[in-house]
Amino acid sequence: MPLAARISKEMLKPHLLVSGNSSLSGELKVNGAKNSALVLLAASLLTDEEIILSNVPKLTDISGMTAILSKMGVEIKHKTKDIFLKANDLRHVELPYELVHGLRASFFCIGALLGRIGKAKIPLPGGCKIGARPVVEHIRGLKALGAIINVNHGIVTASVPGFEGQLKGANVVLDCPSVGATETILMAAVLANGESTIENAAQEPEVQDLAKMLNKMGAKIKGAGGPKIHIEGVKKLHGCEYTVMPDRIEAGTFLIAAAITRSVLKVTPVISDHLNAVLQKLRDCGCRLEKDGEGIKITPGEIHGVDITTQPFPGFPTDLQAPFMALMTTAKGTSVITEKIYENRMQHISELQRMGASIRLQGNTAVIEGVSELSAAPVEGRDLRSSAAMVLASLKANGTSQVVGLDHLDRGYELIEEKLNKCGAHIIRKQH
Ligand code: EPZ
Repeated sequence: MPLAARISKEMLKPHLLVSGNSSLSGELKVNGAKNSALVLLAASLLTDEEIILSNVPKLTDISGMTAILSKMGVEIKHKTKDIFLKANDLRHVELPYELVHGLRASFFCIGALLGRIGKAKIPLPGGCKIGARPVVEHIRGLKALGAIINVNHGIVTASVPGFEGQLKGANVVLDCPSVGATETILMAAVLANGESTIENAAQEPEVQDLAKMLNKMGAKIKGAGGPKIHIEGVKKLHGCEYTVMPDRIEAGTFLIAAAITRSVLKVTPVISDHLNAVLQKLRDCGCRLEKDGEGIKITPGEIHGVDITTQPFPGFPTDLQAPFMALMTTAKGTSVITEKIYENRMQHISELQRMGASIRLQGNTAVIEGVSELSAAPVEGRDLRSSAAMVLASLKANGTSQVVGLDHLDRGYELIEEKLNKCGAHIIRKQH
């Protein structure tokens, strides 16, 4: 299809009109962490008592997860940013594919369901645009804890043998430090009979947030945030109130928005230890960062190219690779960005090139030659974080860009255009 026809067709989709050459000022507020809130919602399955979750972001992924939990019989009430959950009447249902397919985190419920009621029937989440995203590690860990798991026609049917239907503690060594597998196995092990360990565990802050809440519910977990987690199974977990930690990826995205527009900005709240690798790269490329209350004040200087390789935490997070690449397109000099976590997370390159970026891709390594300016264009975000990268690049470009792919963007960023407009951007959301 000729480009002109494609562009006009694309523009029929909901899109953002983003004015370029923006400068930002003031303070950008960070919401609760999507990737923590999703798994904390799943953890509500582990008790029949009430869980009150505060600071939950209003995102399509969150409403997707609460829809899935309601299907399983969890009673859910919303009060502003708090969600009240009570799983005292769980129904053993097969989760519908159309709900699970788009929301990988819903698969993590399998661990909580096996721990709580000893059975689960969940479709395989399947891959997405950034990669195959298998769940081999999740299944291997659950089998080690004694679960019987069959996969037929894309459905994972899991159960716990024996009259009590209780999982048994085990030592699990992960082949890769998978965040979801660590969280899934953790939620299964907390109610297992006996002690468990997870080695080569993911160390992400979201895993730590989950362990903190589970311990508040009466679990006995030690070592979360490190490579080896120790769990002593308990008979029952009780309800609790818990506040979701700030979203380190949203915070990083906003810090990069300040850097790309060369704006002095405060981003708050930020837990620096959740973002040290990113903060270091922002300093290395020419930004001054200062602690400012619960947040960080960023003052960009001349931005120059730095090299990045994405790694499991505490390395540079894959979720900020695309936004950071947008920044590097107008940095002085060359930068080399290597994506080590996903096999196909470079789809933003073609869109950045349409804006005039000079990028060469060899395998999963991109070589970016900084250019003096980007030009506005109709661009498309192909996944959640590449959509954010398109918004950032459009803030910098000459002219007004149209950014489509809002279904991706709204999964991970609450009211992004309202927040940026409050700091001086000019972004209009158009439904068609
Ligand atoms: C979580 O996904 C996040 N999602 C992702 O954020 C994030 O990119 C990812 O962790 C890595 O930090 C949520 O928490 C809901 P993984 P998860 O299992 O748990 C491979 C975003 O933009 N792998 O750590 O699915 C896998 O294919 C999203 O907010 C195996 O090979 O990530 C991938 O290449 C995107 N075998 C890598 O590990 C397995 O059994 C990381 O996957 C499991 C994973």
